[in-house]
Amino acid sequence: MSKTSDYFVPWLKDSLIYDVDVLDTAWANPDIARLMLNENPIPPSEKVINAVTEICKRGNHYPDRWWGLREKIGKSCGFGAKNVFMANGSSENIDNMMRVFLQPGDEVLLASPTFTLFRIRASVCGGKIVEVPLRESDLQYDTDAMLDAITPKTKLIVVVNPNNPTGIFIEESELRRLLDTGIPTCIDEAYLAYHPEVPSMVPLVKEYPNAFTSHTLSKAHGIAGMRFGYMIGNEDIVEAFERVSLPWNLSLMNLAAAEAVMEDTEHLALKVKHNNDWMKVFYKEFTDLGLKPFEPHGNYMLIDANDFGLTSQEIYDKAMEDKVAVKTFEPIHGKAGYFRITPGTNEENERCIKTMRRIFGDKDARQNSTPPNRLA
Ligand SMILES: Cc1ncc(COP(=O)(O)O)c(C=O)c1O
Repeated sequence: MSKTSDYFVPWLKDSLIYDVDVLDTAWANPDIARLMLNENPIPPSEKVINAVTEICKRGNHYPDRWWGLREKIGKSCGFGAKNVFMANGSSENIDNMMRVFLQPGDEVLLASPTFTLFRIRASVCGGKIVEVPLRESDLQYDTDAMLDAITPKTKLIVVVNPNNPTGIFIEESELRRLLDTGIPTCIDEAYLAYHPEVPSMVPLVKEYPNAFTSHTLSKAHGIAGMRFGYMIGNEDIVEAFERVSLPWNLSLMNLAAAEAVMEDTEHLALKVKHNNDWMKVFYKEFTDLGLKPFEPHGNYMLIDANDFGLTSQEIYDKAMEDKVAVKTFEPIHGKAGYFRITPGTNEENERCIKTMRRIFGDKDARQNSTPPNRLA
C-alpha cells in the first residue's frame, strides 16, 4: 500500500520550513531578552486593549470586509479602499503573493540575505528561488546582477526596503530599473515607520501596474502577536489576493487592534523614539568595542563581528549565558561573524550591552581589526 505522503504534491517534499523553535524557547523562558526577532518591546496601549476587549462582545458575528479601515489605510497613502488588501500580518501577504504569481518551476528573484519567509513560502508553491547576493563592498542591492538573473520564468521580484537584516535602502532609480522590466515586484516596507522622514515607495504603485507594497503593524506599531499587515496594489492585484485568500481571514480582534493602533499616533511616536534612542546607544557602545554595526533603519541592527573570529552561533551561545538572545546568520560572503540585535526593554538593553562588553571587550581577542566605517 502506498504511503499517504506519496499523495502529497511533489514539491512539498523539498519545501522549506520557517524555524520557530526560537519562539517556543522565548515563551517558555520569559527571562530571556528576546532581541532576536525584530519585535517591539513595548506592549499595546490601553486604547488598543480596550478596542479588542470591546469587539470581543460581538464575537458571535462574522466580520465584514471592514471597508472603513481599508478606506482609512488607502487614504493615508493616497489610494482608495479597493487598492488595499488586509491580512494576518504581512506574512500572509507574502504567502498570498506566491500563490498569485507562481506555479511550480517559476522563479522568484530575491536578494541574499533578506527576510527568509519569502523563499520559504515560494518553496511551498514549488517556486525556484533565485538569490542574488548583496554587493560584497557595502551589502547594497546589486541591481545589475538582479537584472542579469531574470529569465522568462521570473514571475516575482522582491525588494525589502530597508532590507532586513542589513538596514540598507535601495535607491529609487535602482528600484525603477527593476520595475521597468514589467515583472510583478513586491516592495516590502515593514520597517519604514521607524523613519517617517524617509519617503515610502508607495506612489510607484500608481506609476507601475506591476508594483505593490507590503506593510505590517508588527514592528513600529508593535502588534506582532495580534497579526495585521496590508498590501497596496492596483485593483487587479488586490482582486487576485482576494481570490487566493480565505473570506474572514482576519478576526474581529485583528481588525479592532489594527484600527486602534493606527489611530494611536502618540503611542507610535513613543515606541519609535524608544527604539531609535537605543539604536544610537547601541551604535556607540558596539563601535567602541571594535564591532562594526551597520547603520540601522528599522528595529534591528546587523553587526559585523568578523574581526573577533567568533561564528554567529558562538556569539549566540555566549550571549545566552546572560539570557540575551541574538539573531544568528549563515555566513555572508563567506564571513561567519555577523549577528543581529533588536532593542528590548531598558533592562534588557543594559544587560545586552554588559554581555557584549563581556564577549567583545577583550581587545586582544580581536584579529586583524580595521576601523569601523559604516556610518557615513
Ligand atoms: C521584511 C519583513 N517583512 C515581513 C515580515 C513579517 O511581518 P508580519 O509580522 O507582518 O508577518 C518581517 C518580519 O520580521 C520582515 O522582516
